[in-house]
Amino acid sequence: MIKQAIQTLRQQIKQHDYAYYVLDAPQIPDNEYDQLFSELQRLEQQHPKFITLDSPTQRVGATPLTQFASVQHRQKMLSLSNAFTADEVRDFALRLQKQLKQSVIDCVAEPKIDGLAISLRYEHGQLVQAATRGDGNAGENVTQNVRTIKSIPLSLLGDAWPQILEVRGEIFMPKKGFHALNQQRRTTGEKTFANPRNAAAGSLRQLDAKITAQRPLDFLSYGLGEVQGFTLPASYLDILQQLKAWGLPISVEARLLHGIDACLTYAQALAQRRDALPYDIDGIVYKVNDLALQNQLGFIARAPRWALAHKLPGQEQSTQVEAIHVQVGRTGVLTPVAQLKPVNIAGVMVSSATLHNANELQRKDVRVGDTVVVRRAGDVIPEIVNVVLSKRPPSGVPFVFPPCCPVCGGALAQVVDQVAIRCTAGSLCPAQRKQALAHFVSRDALDVNGLGAALIEQLVDKGMVQTVADLYTLTLEDWLSLDLVADKTAHNLLAALENSKKTTLPRLLYALGIPEIGLSTATLLSQHCADLHQLSQASAENLLTIKGIGEVTARCLLDFFQSPDNQRLIAQLHHLGIQTEKIDIKQKLAGKTFVLTGTLSQMNRQQAQAALENLGAKVSTNVSKKTDYLVAGDNAGSKLHKAQQLGIKILDETRFNQLL
Ligand code: IVH
Repeated sequence: MIKQAIQTLRQQIKQHDYAYYVLDAPQIPDNEYDQLFSELQRLEQQHPKFITLDSPTQRVGATPLTQFASVQHRQKMLSLSNAFTADEVRDFALRLQKQLKQSVIDCVAEPKIDGLAISLRYEHGQLVQAATRGDGNAGENVTQNVRTIKSIPLSLLGDAWPQILEVRGEIFMPKKGFHALNQQRRTTGEKTFANPRNAAAGSLRQLDAKITAQRPLDFLSYGLGEVQGFTLPASYLDILQQLKAWGLPISVEARLLHGIDACLTYAQALAQRRDALPYDIDGIVYKVNDLALQNQLGFIARAPRWALAHKLPGQEQSTQVEAIHVQVGRTGVLTPVAQLKPVNIAGVMVSSATLHNANELQRKDVRVGDTVVVRRAGDVIPEIVNVVLSKRPPSGVPFVFPPCCPVCGGALAQVVDQVAIRCTAGSLCPAQRKQALAHFVSRDALDVNGLGAALIEQLVDKGMVQTVADLYTLTLEDWLSLDLVADKTAHNLLAALENSKKTTLPRLLYALGIPEIGLSTATLLSQHCADLHQLSQASAENLLTIKGIGEVTARCLLDFFQSPDNQRLIAQLHHLGIQTEKIDIKQKLAGKTFVLTGTLSQMNRQQAQAALENLGAKVSTNVSKKTDYLVAGDNAGSKLHKAQQLGIKILDETRFNQLL
């Protein structure tokens, strides 16, 4: 009876893992999944004799290793020949054509993920070993660690498995997880990882699997090693489909392409999307699809003749530090920034890079005149990876962090529980005031057209505005007294400010720059409060009843509304005629059907669904012709492709937030 219950729970969890990690189509909310998991844990604790190694509760082993054992690969783990230019890719195609005596060859193209190669050995459907590539002949046994990666099944789905199946693929750390991990390490003053690849390698090489289990590692399959007791399908694409059916994740980007021009077009398109992909790539891999043709082509030295890595420009480059400035942010946090000799990184000119905080600057010991390695990936700010010490000029001296705010001279304080250092002067500090103003008038906030940084700079430097409310008291003469403001501009600015007075509650809330209140939280709050006044009166208990508002956010709101300065500001804004228009939000999206896919950074599935339903929209799980919008978060997979094929409007997270 109990055994049966345990097995049913395991089967359910396995199916949900598959839906979540492989199909990108979760079937139940997280809390229901957690309930199944705790129930299984409870039953297993009461009946330990029924615990099996492939139970989802057994991903993290108990005893740390002292070292990794060596594993001899039954089939060599190969690497790939490289091409750097389109001409070199065409040469590859010509070689294939010549050897196969065919004029056009079908290839599968897919991203070359920048992670670590791994070989997963399944015997009778059970994961028994995971080994790194090593030198290709022998690698390290990292089974304990690999078992903690949730997208890797501990046992295969279905039942018609080979006796032996070695799956080859890439273990990597998605960009989002990498940034979160580094951010967390930065706040606690720990050493950060240079890039997602290093972070993945460092995480996989932990002797204690409990540490690996806390790292956001992921996996995609791209091939096979030893296989026994199974007749392979005829093509690479079919192998991928078979792996997927067994529960292994495969890339949603893999495409079967007819001829080399199609491959080059694919490469160009993927390179353009490089920053938006959820993981780092260092190229595109082309593989001859037909396995019979692959066999005919064979291998050279350490690489197959039937595959090619088309490399993309690196995302790290070295350049020189010309100066180091310390910037003061909207909330007063000090950020050291290196000004660089401009350098082209994967197609973008980079002339400055963040050093994050004093602690990191000190640890990396970046000095003016140093040659440094700079990394730019995705739409994140470029950062300094490390100093090339061998190129340090003898004159280089350590950078001394300012003892007080470099803008206003105000006292500095360390943020509680963090390494961040802040200027404590608040809106008295011109830097903070300027940024608070810029934030207030920005597009997602009150959207005051034409009021850019240069004008704000003058307004603050000339002492014309103290708070955002003061913007509305400026006269035509005031505006005309500024540099670069002629009659027309002044009138436009006055009109833009007047226009901005009619706004919505989410915009106004966001504009106030309350810590933790981004656009989506502001939207969520607005769905529960009529206006700013009502929100300012809400108690902690009231706030915490709102799904999606946690203790930290509630605290920030209470602190903000308790401050006499802020109370005065809100009263002033009200007095000046700033009005939040009441929209019948229930009707806003009535009749529209949405599908959610991938992960959103600011809310989970249920919150996103609730937000949409509050606006009258219907949220469905499958993409069809009836879908009006697909909301695609990170790691969006097959649904995104289907929506693209059907020509459905796709909203990324930013646009989704704007819509809300
Ligand atoms: S195929 C015989 N496909 O690139 C085929 N490799 O430079 C061997 N890699 O060691 C590999 N993405 O770690 C293949 N889609 C992909 C890949 C990929 C990343 C890595 C892999 C390999 C290295 C070769």
